[in-house]
Order: sequence, then C-alpha cells, then structure tokens
Amino acid sequence: MDDTPRIPTTVRPAQDADIPAITRVYNQGIADRLATLETEPRDEDERRAWLLGRGERHPVLVAERGGEVVGWGCLNPFSPRPAYRFVADFSVYVGREARGGGVGGALLAALIAAAGRLGYHKLVLAAFPFNEAGMRLYARFGFREVGVYREQGMLDGRWVDTVVMELLLDGDGETGGRGDGK
Ligand SMILES: CC(C)(COP(=O)(O)OP(=O)(O)OC[C@H]1O[C@@H](n2cnc3c(N)ncnc32)[C@H](O)[C@@H]1OP(=O)(O)O)[C@@H](O)C(=O)NCCC(=O)NCCS
Repeated sequence: MDDTPRIPTTVRPAQDADIPAITRVYNQGIADRLATLETEPRDEDERRAWLLGRGERHPVLVAERGGEVVGWGCLNPFSPRPAYRFVADFSVYVGREARGGGVGGALLAALIAAAGRLGYHKLVLAAFPFNEAGMRLYARFGFREVGVYREQGMLDGRWVDTVVMELLLDGDGETGGRGDGK
C-alpha cells in the first residue's frame, strides 16, 4: 500500500482566469502523443472561445492543488442527435508535473458526479491502448472496454489504435462498476 500523503485536490468549475493553465495542460497532452489525435497546439484565445461556447450540459472542471490549476476535464457532446442526449464523451488532462498523484482520479470522480446530476445515463471515451495511466484510471472507475478500432488514426506517420470504453452511470451489470473509483 502506498502511504505517501496525497496533496489535497480541489475540483471546481472552470472560469476565465483558468484559461492559461487549461491551455498549458492541454498543449502538454497534445505534445505527449499519449492522449489525443489532436496534433495542433492551441492558444489562449481559442480555449477562451471554447470555454465560452460550452452549454450547461457540457461543463469544464479544473483541479487545483496549492492554489494552482494542475488539470482539467470536461463533458462533451457525443452526438447532436437527440436520441444520444443521455450519452456524454469526456476529456481529462493533468499537467506533467502533477501526473500520477491522484489528480486524474479526482477529476474523473467529479465528472462522473456532474454527469449523474445532469441526467446522463452513460459516459464514453476513446483512448490509446498504450496510455497506461489512462487505462488504469478508467479500469479503476469500472469502465468497460467496448472494443478496439484498429489503425484509427495516423499520428506522426504511424497508425494508432483506439480503445472505446463506456460506463453506465446507473450501475454497470457487466463490470460491476460503481463509477466512484473505489
Ligand atoms: C491519464 C491521466 C489523466 C491520469 O491522471 P493522473 O492524475 O496521472 O492519474 P492518477 O494519479 O489518478 O492515477 C491513475 C492510475 O494510473 C497509474 N499511473 C499514473 N501514471 C502512470 C504511468 N506513467 N504509467 C503507468 N501507470 C500510471 C496510477 O498508478 C493509477 O493507477 P491505479 O488507478 O491502479 O491506482 C494523466 O496521466 C494525464 O493527463 N495524462 C496525459 C493526458 C491523457 O492521457 N489524458 C487522457 C486521454 S484518454
């Protein structure tokens, strides 16, 4: 068992003052080639417009440690078709300096709680199979692997697979997932 004391993490809704930190952390995630098929770095104006454009069903949350924003996550529309309104995709990004310390878990727990309050039935995501921290995080929260899209993206001249995962928020009979990371 790891007895290392964890630094308290606070998760709260994002605001305009968080834009520099959100942009910094996102650009690290893009550059690391572990998290996303996005390849172009973003600037603060782009992230500000993105934040302003979110509706109340698609919140952006930030994680703070010692007064610094070290990560962010959000609920994204899965599809504009009304039949999909109970499904949300999500994103979670932790700054390099803070990874492996429970921040991703705190953000995902808060996103799952927010999704429940907003009436979603399911969370889904697509991740790279070689994203070990992400795979462990999603497994801990009870996400079920739906399947693998083979050679789904071309990243720096190489094909990459993506793993599609889901979590039913009212209790996932197949995985027994509680969606609380316990
Ligand atoms: C993936 C990510 C969000 C996880 O957040 P985190 O704060 O680092 O994760 P946590 O500390 O909560 O730990 C998650 C699990 O991964 C493990 N882990 C952390 N870093 C790891 C690493 N480098 N390699 C392997 N496992 C790792 C932890 O031990 C933990 O395992 P457990 O749940 O079995 O105890 C974060 O690493 C990150 O932002 N990475 C870059 C962006 C990204 O990949 N986003 C997800 C896109 S799908």
